[in-house]
Amino acid sequence: MENYLKNYPITQTAIQLGDREILLTIVDDPDHFLDKLSREDSKGTLFLPYWIYLWESAIGLARHVSKIRKTFSDKYILEIGCGFGLGGIVACQAGAKVIFTDFEYDALLFSKHNAQQNGINSAIFVQMDWNAPCFHSKFDVILGSDVIYEEQNWQPILCLLQSLLADEGIALFSEPNRKNADGFFRCIRENGFDFEKSTCSISLTQRTTSINIYTIKRV
Ligand SMILES: C[S@@+](CC[C@H](N)C(=O)[O-])C[C@H]1O[C@@H](n2cnc3c(N)ncnc32)[C@H](O)[C@@H]1O
Repeated sequence: MENYLKNYPITQTAIQLGDREILLTIVDDPDHFLDKLSREDSKGTLFLPYWIYLWESAIGLARHVSKIRKTFSDKYILEIGCGFGLGGIVACQAGAKVIFTDFEYDALLFSKHNAQQNGINSAIFVQMDWNAPCFHSKFDVILGSDVIYEEQNWQPILCLLQSLLADEGIALFSEPNRKNADGFFRCIRENGFDFEKSTCSISLTQRTTSINIYTIKRV
């Protein structure tokens, strides 16, 4: 195992997507690590390292990308808050050029490792805070699984869509039916976007979660 993952207890999990399987290296016992890696900034705001979990939303998004994989060939794709990188990996395998981003450096180490162990060597990994996007080009597709959970993130993510999504592009977001999600989608409708929503059920460990998939376009 690569040296850069040595700070974490790791395990492997296989995600079945139709007739394909993605092998992911993830953090073992993330509950233990959540406390260890939590930190406060100078204003006392608590940062929780949510990237150490593989979320059901990632699997829901990956399944959706896998279903529409034929439309991804040669597309230029940005994944925000990529965590372990599952959605972007499926997009790469469909022939897209993907830039994986997260503001947590170690999430990028895991997503790069996961991409490589699934045969992807051409992807790009960039540490980026969605409050300060560092790209000037436009993307055909922007992927985000479970990134709109906190209201303070809505405006930066809306701005990122406004500045980085190509005119005819789509953003695919997934989230686990959180009560506050409607607020984000109301906000994007008031700001030049529209969306279609579908729902799927994802079983991870012993629970089954309903995951909403949003396909977002400019109006
Ligand atoms: C709930 S996790 C979802 C991770 C992954 N997409 C998944 O579904 O398994 C949220 C992700 O967003 C990242 N994140 C949180 N705030 C961010 C910010 N301001 N800029 C970039 N990434 C951020 C976290 O590091 C984490 O990887």
